Amino acid sequence: MMLAVASVGPSNSMKILVTGSGGQVGQDLIRGLLERGHEVHGSDVASRPSALGVDASRLPWHHLDVTDLTGLRKLIARERPDIVYHLAAILSARGEENPGLTYRVNQGGVYNVLEACREHRVSQVLFASTIAVFGPGLPDPVPNDVPLQPTTMYGVTKVGGELLGEYYNKRYGLDFRAVRFPGLISATLPGGGTSDYAPLMYVEAIRKGAYEAFCRADTRIPLMYMPDGIRALIELSEAPREQLTRTTYNIAAFSPTAEAIAAAVARAVPGAELTFNSDPTRQAILDSWPNALDDAHARADWGWSPEFDLERMTADLVPKIRALLNAS
Ligand code: SER
Repeated sequence: MMLAVASVGPSNSMKILVTGSGGQVGQDLIRGLLERGHEVHGSDVASRPSALGVDASRLPWHHLDVTDLTGLRKLIARERPDIVYHLAAILSARGEENPGLTYRVNQGGVYNVLEACREHRVSQVLFASTIAVFGPGLPDPVPNDVPLQPTTMYGVTKVGGELLGEYYNKRYGLDFRAVRFPGLISATLPGGGTSDYAPLMYVEAIRKGAYEAFCRADTRIPLMYMPDGIRALIELSEAPREQLTRTTYNIAAFSPTAEAIAAAVARAVPGAELTFNSDPTRQAILDSWPNALDDAHARADWGWSPEFDLERMTADLVPKIRALLNAS
């Protein structure tokens, strides 16, 4: 039987469920989807973040543990979303502290989401993949379709998520789409990621006037400002299916060294002291990731293009962090 597929376009209001809504991506994604006129339902194992700044009447919030397939089925059967954005995951650094839990939440979670969405004929599933699917020894920049040999449990489970989504697409016709996010920088802090040194340089420089980064000064990984990341997810969702040549896309913005980020922060926050003290475990993860990604397929298939480079991001982000800190 064919799936009943609602068309997802910029002008159509959809009912959308976001897993992992309380996380770094979720909070900004929710605001972006509401601005576009969608009906959005948040879900997380945690309660609604107080700093979300969205009126509770505009954002129903559901307690959801993605390892609980029964609970997930019930929620999807009751709410009948058109689209599910699956963000819930344990990030790379925290993941290495408890690989078993990371496997259950990330790998079990994506299986459960795909299975519940298939059963209840959800039109589309968006998945947050990552640069952590890549391992060492790849060309620079890294093309879309290369051998995936990650060194972290987080990366392994994200490869698994990409492959499962591809399987559900081919086997059941589920419209699964994924972006491989670079390290994301925003005023909302991530939790437990290895790319956290980048957003922390901004937040701690403004909050405390100093930050000691846990990486070497010459560390260079792909990074992106959150508004571009959110736009990428939403634009991929809205792209006509027939234009897409694959289910998972590299997206790229900029790849400064940690030292170059520190210099940009110091220019915007005079007097801030940024230093480096490499932590071996997290440095090894950073060194296993690519320097830069080739996003030619995203550009060709759905018109992807980033708006922010390091300088533009810094100019936009610093006042936002200041306003948030003053309000709290
Ligand atoms: N930002 C993530 C992490 O550091 C990578 O996707 O774990």
